[in-house]
Amino acid sequence: MKELKIIAKVNICAYEELQIQEKKLIDAAKESTQRAYAPYSEFQVGAAILLEDGTVVTGNNQENVAYPSGLCAERTAIFYANAQYPGLKPVALAVAAFTKGKFTETSISPCGSCRQVLLETENRYAHPLRIFLYGEKEITIIESAKELLPLGFSSLN
Ligand code: THU
Repeated sequence: MKELKIIAKVNICAYEELQIQEKKLIDAAKESTQRAYAPYSEFQVGAAILLEDGTVVTGNNQENVAYPSGLCAERTAIFYANAQYPGLKPVALAVAAFTKGKFTETSISPCGSCRQVLLETENRYAHPLRIFLYGEKEITIIESAKELLPLGFSSLN
């Protein structure tokens, strides 16, 4: 038997250290939290996707009284981007969360289903998706969705 250790690499930085375009993407994710529909959890998540031509597409969580029928911010955003601009590669994603009147101190990270969808997008466009997870205290940067979902399902055979 051979042991395989899987290590995920993330970088932590401050908002001030980011490039202007990265800050704008995070700002768009933060703004998007304010348009979330989250009456059940009162946890408003915003996501912003940067496409290769500079277009920014946003999404947020859309909850439902039949709880599993709702959708996370990340998938709302990526499905919208893929539905509207199938010819443009998504190159970066920012995520922010707002609850109890403020943005979370530490960043939140996409759920398993969102990771699977982000990985599919990366594979479809053969391009890594840089991920910025916003927290008031610090920002987590992940270079690719693959880092978030090692051993993800990627083939039917
Ligand atoms: N949620 C997201 O939209 N994205 C995440 O990364 C984590 C959780 C949503 C789902 C639900 O509407 C609410 O946050 C509480 O879990």
